[in-house]
Amino acid sequence: MTLGIETSCDETAAALVADGAILSNVVASQMDLHARFGGIVPEVAARKHVEAIGYVIKEAVDSADKKLADVEAIAVTSKYGLIGSLLVGVAAAKSLAYTLKVPLIGIHHIEGHIFANIISNPKVPMPHVCLTVSGGHTMLVYVKGLCQYEVLGNTLDDAGGEAFDKIAKFLGLGFPGGPVIDKVSAQGNRAAFNFPRPLWRSKTLDFSFSGLKTAVVNMFKGKERSTLPIPDIAASFQEAVVDHLVSKTVQAAWRKGVSAIGVTGGVAMNRRLREVFSDVSRQERYKVFFTRPDLCSDNAAMIAAAGGARLGYGDIAGLDLSAVPNAPLESVA
Ligand code: KG4
Ligand code: ZN
Repeated sequence: MTLGIETSCDETAAALVADGAILSNVVASQMDLHARFGGIVPEVAARKHVEAIGYVIKEAVDSADKKLADVEAIAVTSKYGLIGSLLVGVAAAKSLAYTLKVPLIGIHHIEGHIFANIISNPKVPMPHVCLTVSGGHTMLVYVKGLCQYEVLGNTLDDAGGEAFDKIAKFLGLGFPGGPVIDKVSAQGNRAAFNFPRPLWRSKTLDFSFSGLKTAVVNMFKGKERSTLPIPDIAASFQEAVVDHLVSKTVQAAWRKGVSAIGVTGGVAMNRRLREVFSDVSRQERYKVFFTRPDLCSDNAAMIAAAGGARLGYGDIAGLDLSAVPNAPLESVA
């Protein structure tokens, strides 16, 4: 039974997972706190993690009807995220691993998202290509096997979710922007504006969203907001993002010769993205596996699951485990 701890961004999360089954999955979101700033404030996030972490871990254990003494391993997000936030989870995990005398496993945040997809779809074949797209990251990974990775593409500037958040802010739709753009777009015409498709002709499997964002802003800058066709702009922008994400992912799957695609991360909840990927699944030779909606956003069940897999390979960290904000995604040795 693995206790997972995740504090890489603005969610304080703890979960108990045993043999791939989620026994509890507790997430304390700071979203409302950051909403008034229009984005995440790292200092505020770190302080809130300190306040919440003890309660969240206790709730994860209590709600599974277990005791801390039942925990056999502790997995924590130690790589990739905000340094102040990561440090809180890592310190909590180390203290618990020391006190309970159980193995400690450090997990890369993106590996967690990949495992969110694997536990959502236990039959997802290996190898497959996995797209992780959220507020903090956009990454294409060739998943050769459990804990075996090759990174194929990354964002060159903003993350996909960040682009949603910034355009929503520009349109006066609030934070977080993804869900509201998703909703407003349902009333809009996605062909109303032909926004540029980033890196369209390029062979790269990387992503870029800042040029698209600038194109949208430049087209409507200085215009009275109440006169703007908000649903049409939202739907056309969303279409460009979805096109960009789907085309690079399909290209990656084709190049790697795999027939399975996983989609995970906060933006994986987007209805148009799911619709277009479902079309791909129907028309082409690819089967697309979506992450369960409750596991798309940051959570600790995905970290516990990744920890369980790494523990199987004997990949145990020492109590000198440190938090690394920008570490690469690495395969197990
Ligand atoms: O995975 P997540 O909760 O946190 C990070 O690791 O960043 O992702 C949050 C991001 C936000 O940028 C949010 O706007 C976006 O996911 N998001 C969506 C949708 N729901 C959440 N983006 C597009 N459509 C959605 N339905
Ligand atoms: Zn994430």
